[in-house]
Amino acid sequence: MLDFQLHMPTRIVFGRGEVEKVGAEAARIAGKVLLVTGRTATRKTGVLQRVLDSLAMAGVEVVVFDRIEPNPRTHTVDEGGRIAREENCGLVIGLGGGSAMDAAKAIAAVAISGIPSHEYISGNQTGRWMELLPVNEALPIMTVPTLAATGSEANSGGVLTHEPTKEKGGVGGPALYPRVAIIDPELTFTVAPDYTADGAVDMFTHLYESYLTGAEDAHVQDHISEGLMRAAVEWGPVAYKEPENYEARAALMWASTVALIGIPNGGRGGAFPVHAMEHTLSAWFDISHGRGLAILAPAYFRIVAADRPHRIARLGRHVFGVQEADDRVAAEKTIKAMIDWFKSMDVYLKLSGVGIDRESLAPMAADAVRVGGRGAGFIAATRNLEVQDVLKIYEESF
Ligand code: NZQ
Ligand code: ZN
Repeated sequence: MLDFQLHMPTRIVFGRGEVEKVGAEAARIAGKVLLVTGRTATRKTGVLQRVLDSLAMAGVEVVVFDRIEPNPRTHTVDEGGRIAREENCGLVIGLGGGSAMDAAKAIAAVAISGIPSHEYISGNQTGRWMELLPVNEALPIMTVPTLAATGSEANSGGVLTHEPTKEKGGVGGPALYPRVAIIDPELTFTVAPDYTADGAVDMFTHLYESYLTGAEDAHVQDHISEGLMRAAVEWGPVAYKEPENYEARAALMWASTVALIGIPNGGRGGAFPVHAMEHTLSAWFDISHGRGLAILAPAYFRIVAADRPHRIARLGRHVFGVQEADDRVAAEKTIKAMIDWFKSMDVYLKLSGVGIDRESLAPMAADAVRVGGRGAGFIAATRNLEVQDVLKIYEESF
C-alpha cells in the first residue's frame, strides 16, 4: 500500500427527510446565504421551496441563484461569485446534482478572490491554474445533492466548462470541502431513468479508474472499491425501474458519496483517464457526463485487458460474478458483463448516437490530452495515452 494522507472534513447528515435540517444547519454558519441551484428540476419537484421554507424558519436570509446549467459554465459561475460578494453572503449552498454543487463551490472561491473561474481550470491554455490551485480560500459551502453520481457533496473538487475555448477541467483545494452535506436519498426519487443510469455509471467509473491503474497491493482499498462497485451494479438497475425504491436510492446515494471522498482510492494512487477523455466530450457536445463515460468504457477496458488482464479479471470475478480461471478469458467476460449491465439500463451507446460527428474526434483527442494531461503531453493510464491513442479509443467508441 502507498503512503497517504486523508482529510475528510465534511460533516455528513444522511437520511430520509433530512433536507428539513438545511435551515438550522445554515443558521449555524451564516445569517445570509446564496442558494445555488439548476434552472428547472428543484423548482419543479418542490425541493427548492422546501429548502426556502426551512431557511425562512431558521431566520436565514436567502439570495437564490437558479441559473446553473448541466456542465456548468465559467461565465455563470463568475456571475454567481459577483452576486455572492455584492450581497455579502456568508455561505454558499449547492442544491442539485453535481453541476449545481460544483458551481456552488467555484462561486464560493470566486466570491472571495474576484478571479474569473476559467483561470482556475486545470490544463487551460492560460496556465494560470497552476498558481491558483489548490484553492485555499472560499466562502463556507453546504451541499444538498438531489442526484447520486458525482460525490461532489463531500469532496473538494468541482468541474467547470469554459465555452469560448471548449475547455472542461477541474477546480480543487481544501477550501472547497463543504462544511456540511445534507444527503437525503428521497430527493433523488424524481431523477429520470436516464440520469439515474448515468449516475450509476459515473460512480462505478470513479471506483474502477483507480482500481485498474493504481498500486496492486492496496488490499483494503480493493475490497472497499469492489463492494461499492457491486452496490452500483446491483442497485442501479433497481432504481432505474423503480424510482421511488428508497433502499436502492439510499444505496446509490451513499455509494456515490463514498466513492470519491478518498477512502477507496487513498493509498492506491492511480489515474482517471476515462474522466479526462470524457470531459472533452461533454465540453464539446454538452452530453451527460455519465453517458460519455459509459460510451468510452468498453474501448478503454480493452486496453487495460491487454496491459493488466489480471486486474480486469479480478474486477469481473468480484463485481460481476465472472467465473473463469484464465485471466485473459475472464477479462473478456468482464467486458461483456459490463456491457450487459449498461444494456440493462439502456446506456450502452456509441458517440455517433449522442450527436457527436466523426470530424470532431481528432481535435477532441488533442484537447483531451492538453487539458486532461495537464501539460504532460499524455493522459496517464495503464500506459501513457498520447493523442493517437485517445483518438483510437474515440474511434472505437464511435
Ligand atoms: O438542470 P437542472 O434543472 O438542475 O436538472 C438536472 C439536470 O438536468 C437534473 N436533476 C438533478 N436532480 C434532479 C434532477 N431531475 C429531477 N429530479 C432531481 N432530483 O438532472 C440533470 C443532470 O444534473 P447534473 O447536476 O448535471 O448531473 P450530475 O450530478 O451527473 O453532475 C454532472 C457534472 O458533475 C461533474 C461532471 O463533469 C458534470 O459537469 N463531475 C463532478 C465531479 C466532482 N465534483 O467530484 C466528479 C465527476 O466525475 C464529474 O466530472
Ligand atoms: Zn465522474
